[in-house]
Amino acid sequence: MRIAVIGTGYVGLVSGACFSELHNEVICVDKDASKISVLSRGEIPIYEPGLQELVIRNMEAGRLAFTSDLQSAVRQSEAVILAVGTPSLPSGEANLEIIEQAAREIAAAMNGYKLIMVKSTVPVGTNHRLQALVASIAKFPFEIVSVPEFLREGSAVGDTFHPDRIVIGADRSEAAEIAAALHRSLTDRIFVTDIRSAEMIKYASNAFLATKISFINEIANICEKVGADVTKVAEGMGYDRRIGHSFLRAGIGYGGSCFPKDTQALIQIAGNVDYEFKLLKSVVDVNRDQRFSVVHKLRRIFGELEGRTIAVWGLAFKPNTDDVRDTPALDIVQALVGLGANVRACDPVALPNFRNGFDHERIAWCEDALEAADGADAVCLLTEWPAFADVDLQQLRQRMSRPVLIDGRNLFSAEQLEHAGFIYSSIGRPALNRGTAEQADDKPA
Ligand code: UDX
Repeated sequence: MRIAVIGTGYVGLVSGACFSELHNEVICVDKDASKISVLSRGEIPIYEPGLQELVIRNMEAGRLAFTSDLQSAVRQSEAVILAVGTPSLPSGEANLEIIEQAAREIAAAMNGYKLIMVKSTVPVGTNHRLQALVASIAKFPFEIVSVPEFLREGSAVGDTFHPDRIVIGADRSEAAEIAAALHRSLTDRIFVTDIRSAEMIKYASNAFLATKISFINEIANICEKVGADVTKVAEGMGYDRRIGHSFLRAGIGYGGSCFPKDTQALIQIAGNVDYEFKLLKSVVDVNRDQRFSVVHKLRRIFGELEGRTIAVWGLAFKPNTDDVRDTPALDIVQALVGLGANVRACDPVALPNFRNGFDHERIAWCEDALEAADGADAVCLLTEWPAFADVDLQQLRQRMSRPVLIDGRNLFSAEQLEHAGFIYSSIGRPALNRGTAEQADDKPA
């Protein structure tokens, strides 16, 4: 199939590359000409494992190209994937200006029947509005189907080739069948439904996963007080197949470009029809508070943080990405600096992006974990990059002024850290959270 993909963000770029690998002819379109020239050289503007090789291989095979010329891309294609961003408005509602503009341009460019597959996350009812918008301009027949995207950053290529399911929302079964045919080599679990339900499946899925995370984080907070271990609790819960093990990792909560935006948007979608989504509002509140749990732990150990030096390990919202959108690290670093601490920050790939969004005279930007730990009173681990797990603990201890490690992602085991002489505090594993300022000061490395 010849496919035009509009928007070369995460979803558009990964989908385009993956569909070209499946021997479709794909042209990816973006208004940002500098991004297109970067992509046309086989360079990838984001850090995503496996993506660059995939892009280069398919460009060389002549199946994947990049352009800013939407009109010619649409004209050459039978299907159009709409994958532009739907950023949040200050109210939390999704901003649909970009997608509406793209729909107008597609409509004006049409030279025959086109199947338009919308992968952007859009509020319920949007696809029907886009249908009316395109119909008011287009001179040729077309159909819009909703094909929400569930890929995760950091494992986007694998997720696209091995999805748990493909959801297709369509008004006509013939349109659904064309979309299904395109996806059938990825999975046979293709769920076809109406457009509005498909739109809702995307929001409900993200909201549910966010709920699982906030749920386990609250359980973790209670575990700390009653002396239970949340990792054991989550494991024991997960053996119940109705619950499952995934998304029960306690920590400093979720960030990224999807969960924070989509939960807010769903609260708004409900609010617009006079429904207060109380549960989801609490999920969002819990997530915000949870970010500061590591700061509270530092204060419990040191009292005031004024003048203390804190190494921050990890700035990306999760490992294997350079994405810092709504990363918990931003709130945490801002809080630390606000409390008068000096921060020594590092991240294997996300440091430049983070620094672009927030810089401060009391932040030192460091090459790696050990450099960040130099002279630090504590290490605060915010992203569970595997490289952090491999740090030599004896060397780490020698470089720090006090051997304190606050593990916001439960990456280390308490036994490992305590054995190496650290005061160690993690999330929801209370029996090992005994460190105090006196002990920290008594235990110079
Ligand atoms: C998410 C959805 O998983 C994906 O289906 C959707 O298309 C986009 O949003 P993504 O944001 O890339 O994907 O990452 P994900 O792996 O889901 O993690 C989101 C956040 O939740 C991260 O900050 C992660 O650290 C956090 N998280 C995840 C937890 O705190 N605990 C968990 O158990 C799982």
